[in-house]
Amino acid sequence: MPFAAGAALGETPRHRGFRVLMRDHPMSPTPQSVVFALAAIVVAMHLAPAGAQPLSVTPGEDLRVLYATPLDIAEGERVAEASCKGCHGLAGISTAKEVPHIAGQRAAYLYAEVRTYKQGGRGDNPMAGAVKLLSDDSLMKAAAYYASLEPAQPAAGAAKNAPMKPDPVQAGRAAAAACAGCHGEDGVSKTPGTPSLAGLDPKYVVAAMLAYRSGQRKNDLMKALVGTLSDTDMSNIALHYALQKPARAQTPAPGDAAAGKAAAAACSGCHGEHGVSGSPSNPNLAGQDAQYIAVAVRAYKDGARSNDLMKGPAASLDERAARDIAAYYASQQPQAPNVRKPVTPAELAQQCDRCHGVGGNSTDPRAPSLAAQRADYLEKALQAYRKGTRKSTAMAAMSEMLGDSDIEGIAAHYSRQKARFAVYVLVPAR
Ligand code: HEC
Ligand code: HEC
Ligand code: HEC
Ligand code: HEC
Repeated sequence: MPFAAGAALGETPRHRGFRVLMRDHPMSPTPQSVVFALAAIVVAMHLAPAGAQPLSVTPGEDLRVLYATPLDIAEGERVAEASCKGCHGLAGISTAKEVPHIAGQRAAYLYAEVRTYKQGGRGDNPMAGAVKLLSDDSLMKAAAYYASLEPAQPAAGAAKNAPMKPDPVQAGRAAAAACAGCHGEDGVSKTPGTPSLAGLDPKYVVAAMLAYRSGQRKNDLMKALVGTLSDTDMSNIALHYALQKPARAQTPAPGDAAAGKAAAAACSGCHGEHGVSGSPSNPNLAGQDAQYIAVAVRAYKDGARSNDLMKGPAASLDERAARDIAAYYASQQPQAPNVRKPVTPAELAQQCDRCHGVGGNSTDPRAPSLAAQRADYLEKALQAYRKGTRKSTAMAAMSEMLGDSDIEGIAAHYSRQKARFAVYVLVPAR
């Protein structure tokens, strides 16, 4: 039982600093063993100072729980038995959806949160009712009790609860291998009549694949090639091409680009001044294979490819004008669409670990550990911060930048981390 360590050594709250030591297991809760274990820790800290980090904390009401005695903890167990066990279990390891594990959670955090629930600060939920009638003293003891327990570890079934999503960039690259023979290794075409895919907006590329699949865009070859892909495959492939460096297609452009430039004025309203449109529904034409452009214009004109917006502009072009416009666009410099490489949960977690500790094992008694927490609860908490229904200045800023899939990924990431126990050892004032 670590938090009585100071008391066991006759320390008092006037000491201003703690040392924190991360352990794989809590110490046994008898006063003698605390002293022995503490001696061992002090030795261990001298031998391996890298494992221990000094914390500068100001004692106050919120840190009262760090001075809980073995007696307080024994009383806390009785409070837990009577008021918490039904939902959190006596071991603090939850088996219910969206009910958090609280065993081994940092003590000052637990105590602060139960008081927040009591004051209605975390909204109307089962917890608010459970703690409403308990005194701060009982809550402090219950917090000290749960903090002293062995934390939950990543569940054997965690992989099933929170399947690891493959990295979309890698998955896209792998799936696009089947397309490289025609569309070019990096999506820059070397085959006249086959479009480059690099430099196209991923939303447009997905829409095109869906149109082939549904038959709305008629092309037997492309239907066969993309018709069996899942929606996820499609978006991964589109992302892969969007991240490639676009270049002009390495194919001949037989028309008169100068004549084409003048005629292209009629197209620039939708396709952009130099063939870079800026809108995902209007495909970029800059650097596109010239033969493909000319064939597409003919297809819109004769109705083989039907699109209300393109029918008019295409109808006004004869073969020669179409070829000239194609040569003009093919000569323009394509640009990469505005798509950033998605951040992986592990990369994202580096920003969270700053406060939540390495692998989500917090060293600050006031900041929650996230390691091995239930993924469903972590998701719910992050959604609540993002919506503003759970208030925290730090977390409002951090959750704002997260999309739904980031939240899913990061929750799965932390639910899989090994949970470690933090021992707070008072550092005597010098
Ligand atoms: C009726 C079921 C129920 C009972 C009884 C209950 N809890 Fe909870 N507890 C919950 C639920 C559900 C949540 C998550 C609520 C939310 O999403 O904010 C929660 C959340 C918590 C949290 C926040 C954990 C975190 O990681 O932020 C703490 C701390 C906590 N409970 C402690 C206790 C203590 C101590 C008791 C007994 C005094 C207790 N609970 C009794 C259902 C219960
Ligand atoms: C055998 C050669 C070949 C292969 C392999 C191939 N494509 Fe195509 N692709 C074409 C041709 C030819 C067109 C032009 C069809 C048309 O006129 O509609 C095309 C058109 C497309 C378009 C429409 C582009 C636009 O600008 O509208 C997309 C998107 C596309 N292919 C994606 C893929 C993907 C993804 C794969 C791999 C899973 C793939 N293709 C494999 C030949 C191929
Ligand atoms: C009113 C807006 C608009 C104008 C003007 C317009 N386009 Fe389009 N264009 C579109 C849209 C929208 C599409 C995508 C249609 C689809 O999904 O098949 C498209 C598609 C195309 C394509 C197929 C590109 C690909 O990757 O498959 C070509 C080629 C094209 N336009 C050429 C032209 C030319 C040349 C002109 C001028 C003569 C022109 N467009 C004028 C809206 C426009
Ligand atoms: C600047 C410090 C800081 C950073 C960075 C930070 N957090 Fe937090 N986080 C906190 C604090 C403080 C709390 C407790 C807030 C409260 O009382 O609700 C918290 C609470 C949480 C909770 C609720 C835990 C529980 O048991 O209820 C989750 C989940 C969480 N953070 C996830 C994250 C994720 C994911 C990131 C990175 C994207 C992150 N945090 C980055 C400080 C931080």
